[in-house]
Amino acid sequence: MSMQEKLGQLNELRVKVQAGGGEKRIAKQHSAGKKTARERIDYLYDPGTFREIDVFAGDPSKNPGEGVVTGYGTINGKKVFIYAQDFTVTGGSLGKIHAQKICKVLDLAMRTGAPVIGLNDSGGARIQEGVDALNGYGEIFFRNTVASGVIPQLAVIMGPCAGGAVYSPALMDFIFMVKGTSQMFITGPQVIKAVTGEEVTMEELGGAMTHNQTSGVAHFMGENEEHCLDMVKLLLSYLPANNLEEPPACSPKEPVGDREELLNIVPAQPNLSYDVKKIIKGVIDGGEFLEVHPYFAKNAVIGFARINGQSVGIVANQPDYLAGCLDINASDKISRFVRFCDAFNIPLITFMDVPGFLPGTGQEFGGIIRHGAKMLYAYSEATVPKVTVILRKAYGGAYLAMCSSALRADMVYAWPTAEIAVMGPEGAVNIIHRNEIANAENPAEERERLVKEYREKFANPYVASSRGFVDDVIDPRETREKIIDALQVLSSKRESRPRKKHGNIPV
Ligand code: HXC
Repeated sequence: MSMQEKLGQLNELRVKVQAGGGEKRIAKQHSAGKKTARERIDYLYDPGTFREIDVFAGDPSKNPGEGVVTGYGTINGKKVFIYAQDFTVTGGSLGKIHAQKICKVLDLAMRTGAPVIGLNDSGGARIQEGVDALNGYGEIFFRNTVASGVIPQLAVIMGPCAGGAVYSPALMDFIFMVKGTSQMFITGPQVIKAVTGEEVTMEELGGAMTHNQTSGVAHFMGENEEHCLDMVKLLLSYLPANNLEEPPACSPKEPVGDREELLNIVPAQPNLSYDVKKIIKGVIDGGEFLEVHPYFAKNAVIGFARINGQSVGIVANQPDYLAGCLDINASDKISRFVRFCDAFNIPLITFMDVPGFLPGTGQEFGGIIRHGAKMLYAYSEATVPKVTVILRKAYGGAYLAMCSSALRADMVYAWPTAEIAVMGPEGAVNIIHRNEIANAENPAEERERLVKEYREKFANPYVASSRGFVDDVIDPRETREKIIDALQVLSSKRESRPRKKHGNIPV
């Protein structure tokens, strides 16, 4: 064969692989509201930068690309690796070579210190390949674990993701799902019906809303595939390429709105609620807040933002929902986020207004002790710059858990509205003045008087300030400048801890 003929053959083979499962299956994919693996890659990557690898893996004449497209390129100028399962080829099912292709990309991402994205759209283990397919999943799980905390790993669910296959996304840092066209579950509706008799639709069981709102398995939900991939790009813009790099710096932007508004958000009445996101947006650059887990455990707000051009992780209580109490789900949500930010050198800014841990048997039986402990652990463990702003309530163990000075917040600011105490005035006077209230001529009046007295004496920022637990009491309008100053002084922060294999976070 002449060189010309050989090049012709190469071209022919490449075109065949690029055609995936063929026109009919591609049309089926499109009619289901889904892009193909290659179209998704085209949408994500800077034009002309994607380089496919392992193009001819497996048997291109039978299973082009073995049901997965892998490679690397740049997204907004930054190197990112990817594997995109191709549902048009054997339903994107995972066989031995499919798994090897994914493993190679994970290994390359690790060796070169670059983020990896997994686009999942698959019927699961390729049934014909039996244990080879199972072992392939195991090899991926192992790599996801080793890569955890070294490179950012983003999983995007863009079709079915069933059985043990869900555990690779679950081991990665963030899961994105598309409304209406993606599902995750360990056992599907038919198996559930056969085993327990329970009837449930695929969407109810494992659709995007289920995992974004109820289970908390997924962190982001896209209205459609484009929206979902846009969020992936946005998230990447806040992250460093790996754990040894700093997050990228951007040009600073002024916050939106008038800073005077910060004086009117926290109501004078301590039992009234407000939306903490108004305070976050009044402090961060350009009001641009990429909220993580916006539908799950809404009593806590977490997400990425920039302050003076620098990426930060924001954690806040949300008084508008469950009065901002910490519960099991909020503890899980916050702890995992804190650990992510710490692993990737992203400073943590915590806005505190927390009346306590949510009381009740539901929480106690569900293990709030174990789950709440994760917050203490995650914040204590974090060595990135930690700045805390106490907005209003800071009560009991929840005060400690929301990055108090004892957990090594580097700088704690309190607004004049802050109330830092063992518990709220109402609960406290019922306990410490029970007899006085009972014996009073007018118990309701006496109670009210004692609550007022308690609030003046303890529920303010000055007792904590006098002990050095608060570094400064600040005018709310100065919050942004105080945080910028703190981040500047903390930029050279170094903190080392005793050497150990690893800690044992309560899981
Ligand atoms: C081999 C598979 C496959 C699989 C789908 N296909 N899943 N081939 N192994 N697991 C093939 C189909 O035969 C079909 O081939 C093509 O992919 C498209 O599938 P359809 O069924 O036509 O598509 P659709 O109607 O959209 O249904 C999608 C589906 C369904 C819901 C995913 O295919 C399905 O239920 N598949 C089986 C899912 C499953 O039980 N997987 C094993 C899970 S256990 P043709 O040639 O007709 O186009 C698991 C364990 C992992 O994964 C353990 C890890 C530790």
